[in-house]
Formats: sequence, structure tokens, C-alpha cells
Amino acid sequence: MVETLPFRSCMFLLAFFLISLITVRLYAYKYAYAYTFATFKYKSPDSAAKNNFSQWEVKYAYKSPDCFKKLAMTINGESPGPTIYAQQGDTIVVNLTNSLPTENVALHWHGIRQIGTPWSDGTEGVTQCPIMPGDTFTYKFVVDRAGTYLYHAHYGLQISAGLYGFIIVSVPDGVPEPFVYDHDRSIILNDWYHASTYEQATGLSSIDYRWVGEPQSLLINGRGRFNCSELAQSRAIKAHHDFVDKPPPRSDRVIVLLNTQNLIDGYHRWSLNNRSLVLPHTPYLIALKENFIDAFDQNPPPDSYDIHNYDIFSVPDNVNATSSNAIYRISFNTTVDIILQNANTMIPNHSETHPWHMHGHDFWVLGYGMNKFDKEKDPATYNLDDPIMKNTVPLYPYGWTALRFRVDNPGVWIFHCHIEPHLFMGMGIVFEAGVEMVGTLPTSIMGCVRS
Ligand code: C2O
Ligand code: CU
Repeated sequence: MVETLPFRSCMFLLAFFLISLITVRLYAYKYAYAYTFATFKYKSPDSAAKNNFSQWEVKYAYKSPDCFKKLAMTINGESPGPTIYAQQGDTIVVNLTNSLPTENVALHWHGIRQIGTPWSDGTEGVTQCPIMPGDTFTYKFVVDRAGTYLYHAHYGLQISAGLYGFIIVSVPDGVPEPFVYDHDRSIILNDWYHASTYEQATGLSSIDYRWVGEPQSLLINGRGRFNCSELAQSRAIKAHHDFVDKPPPRSDRVIVLLNTQNLIDGYHRWSLNNRSLVLPHTPYLIALKENFIDAFDQNPPPDSYDIHNYDIFSVPDNVNATSSNAIYRISFNTTVDIILQNANTMIPNHSETHPWHMHGHDFWVLGYGMNKFDKEKDPATYNLDDPIMKNTVPLYPYGWTALRFRVDNPGVWIFHCHIEPHLFMGMGIVFEAGVEMVGTLPTSIMGCVRS
């Protein structure tokens, strides 16, 4: 069963589709269309697994996807970049040369869990040093599940500059697909701004704050102009009945994250439990494996906020919000619930939608609610029977969203709002689990580490 919530304005759309990926499968007669943010699970031997090699060069090129000519960040001259077509079990190898004259880069494989290869997650500051101008870096990882994924920059505001593309992973030979359909179209929607990412970044990080504003266009697969008032966002919380993977009945730890907008030292920031994420110079994965304990704040951030006294309907007066690079340490092989709690922004009577995305894991969406999450009553409403599994979930204005996941992938992972400027302004947390089980790190990720 799929419930949809009509968008009332482009602002709602923005929240979800700063960059999003939709596979639209057209079903003859039965349904007009179905959206899937699918990562189907197929279990089968990877007999014919192959290497899938690409040589990519990131560089600027003039593009005019919506008739306005500006510099776009391209891969081999294209934005969106080349599509990777692969089969489940294949090893993807991307040799990436950074030919931007003055900017670093890092590329993330959104939806790929990177089991056993956390250093290939492509998250600058978390799993690797940035790839500097003139350098070449090799990403190598296995695509272990069929599905439609995307890759995109994970550095600064480079997604909005055009650095993204598809990864389409098909089922192994001889394995039938679970759904019948006549056509398969993949769509990436991306906000397109005429201002450069430098102008945007400067506006966001100045005391004289300037929000990036509404995009000039919404691009569909890199092409312009789209009427966003006609889209609907899936609010599905139930899995397809043939593909139910039940969550554990209870969790070992509950982390409640209050989402607020704050002024910190005069700068506009987003915070979680009054901590606004700033990434350290030495990426966490390296710091933890190499025991650089002064690379980041070793005191863990709080698992909750002052639930009793905090008024989620007023402009925050969080005098104690701070910037922080502290991380959550989570015991390996446990089950964790995260409750995202929305609140008022710095504008009276205003709260925004945030699409939260997790690296390294999928999670079950246990439920949504309005107002303040009540830990006595609300868990009784959770869908523990047939919840949907995803890696991105919306948090609605003045509401809460509850999710559960198994912490079973050793590494250091970021969980963040997928609106790129929000992440840029600190809207994320980082957690570590089982880092001692991570294999020897490739030295190629360590370019920024002083020895
Ligand atoms: Cu597609 Cu960290 O995100
Ligand atoms: Cu956000």
C-alpha cells in the first residue's frame, strides 16, 4: 500500500528532491506508475561476477541545461556523469582524476553499503581525505544487491554543481526479477542554481547569512524546467508483502535527535541535540584506525535533548548550541532506534522537511507522528510487522520519524540531511561501529594526514 502526500509548493519538493533518485516502472493497465526507492534483495551465487572498470575525469565545462550557460562540474564532460551498468556481485572500479583547477573532490556511492570497504564510501572528512587537484584516486567496491542507485559528490556543494549520476545494478544471469513491468525509466531530479557554488557557500557561511533560495530550475536527468507542483512523495511505511524482512522486536539503544536551526557565534547552523557537525581535518576512519585521539573531540554527543522543557513550536533560544566534531560510538551487532524530532526554525511558525540519509546501512521505517515524540506512548504505534526498508526517510515539519537498524557493517558512517546546504551547515551526525574489524586502510585515502 502506498500513500502519497501531494506537494503544496516547490519548497516541499526542494526538501525531498535536492537530489533524489526515482525508478519509475510503468505497469501496463494495472497501475499508472509506481515509484520505488528500491534496493531489492536477491540472494544468489555470484558466479559470473566481473570487474567493471571506468576511467573518469572530473572537470568544469560550460553547460546550459535550462538555456542559461554556466560552468557545470562534469565527469568526462558530462553532467549527469556516465551511468554505471553492472550486475549484482560485480566489482566496480572507478579511477577518478580530479582535473578541477582549484577544488578538492570526493565521490559517494549512495545506497551501496560498502561492506568490507568503508574507505570507498567517498565521504570526505569521514572515510577519506579529499582528492586534490591533479590527483587520481581509485574507488573499488562490490555491488552486492540489484537496484537503482546514484553516485554524487560528497564535498562542499558540488552536487548542485552537477556532479552526480546513476549506478544501475541488475540481477545475476538466470535470476528472475520480482516485479513484472513493461518499461523501466530511471530519473534523477536535481535542483539547478545559476549562482556558482562559491557564491552559495559564501552566503551560507557568512555572518551576513544568505540562503541559497529557490533553484532556477529543477533538472530531470540533467535537463531543465520542471513543474514541481505535480509531484507526490511516497509516505509508504509497509514493505511489499512478498519482500518483508522483519525488524528485531526491540532495540538496544534509542537515540533521539532534535533538529534545530541555530545561531552559533553569529553564523546560521543546523544542529542535532545542540551539536552542529563540523568535519575534522583528519577523516574519522583514519583517526580511529591509527589512534590519532586528538583528531576530534572524544566526548560523545548526547543521545537525547531536554525533551521535557524544550518547546518545539517556538524559535529556539538554544544558547548552548555549539559546533562539534564528536561522534557516536555504537556497539557492533546491536539494534539501534533513531528518533528524528523536528522543531521550529529561526522563523516563527516555520518548520521544514528534511530527507535523512544513512550511509553503510539500510533501516526500517517504524513510523511517523506529529508533535513531540512521546517515548511512553508512540512506540506502541510502530509497525514492527512489515515495515519498509530504505536508506533515506523524510522528517516532516513539527513531526517525528522513527527508524531502526542493525549495526552490522564495520566502519565510520555519516547520517545526515540530504539537502546539500543543510549538511554544509552542520545537519548530520557521524557514528562508529566495529572499527576494529575494518581491514588495513589503503594509503590512498590518507593524502591529508600529516605524518
Ligand atoms: Cu547521497 Cu551522504 O549522501
Ligand atoms: Cu535538512
